[in-house]
Amino acid sequence: MRLDPVEFRKAMGSFATGVTVITVDFENEIHGMTANAFTSVSLDPVLVLVCVDRRARTHAHLHARQRFGVNVLAANQRPISEYYARPFQTHTHAEEEAGARFDRTTHGTPVLHGALAYLECRLHTVQDAGDHTIFIAEVEDVVVRSGEPLLYFRGKYQAIGPPIE
Ligand SMILES: Cc1cc2nc3c(=O)[nH]c(=O)nc-3n(C[C@H](O)[C@H](O)[C@H](O)COP(=O)(O)O)c2cc1C
Repeated sequence: MRLDPVEFRKAMGSFATGVTVITVDFENEIHGMTANAFTSVSLDPVLVLVCVDRRARTHAHLHARQRFGVNVLAANQRPISEYYARPFQTHTHAEEEAGARFDRTTHGTPVLHGALAYLECRLHTVQDAGDHTIFIAEVEDVVVRSGEPLLYFRGKYQAIGPPIE
């Protein structure tokens, strides 16, 4: 019996996540991609992974640049998540359309203003995995800010509720 892909998506959508934008410098332009297939992997060395669709432009950019940023979105950054989930030709209108503004690290990696956390990542290992690729990266630096996270659950954006006592 073949697993129903719709049911698989529903099952995985039950696993609530935060939302990130993966940023990469590509020929001096800022490229971003919304991603929630992001997790920590190892503490020593400090490794994280992100799974990227082989058809995404980000896929080629990560291979080429070997370095990227992970920006953990704050609750008020839903327009930024939506913007970077669309298959645009260019991302030159990110500020006008979604309010996304960036700095650069000393490595040139774009850092999103207002994100809850930023991780500066250097590619460590690439693993083919079906129609996606697992990019495992060493974390070289982090920045953490206070605030509330943007969440994603069963195909919808959500805000965090009160703590469970
Ligand atoms: C909440 C959310 C999470 C997503 N997570 C991922 C992900 O982890 N990996 C992925 O390849 N695409 C993910 N996507 C889809 C990409 O953001 C989308 O395909 C994007 O257009 C790819 O951009 P690119 O072709 O410019 O790289 C996600 C979309 C949304 C809305």
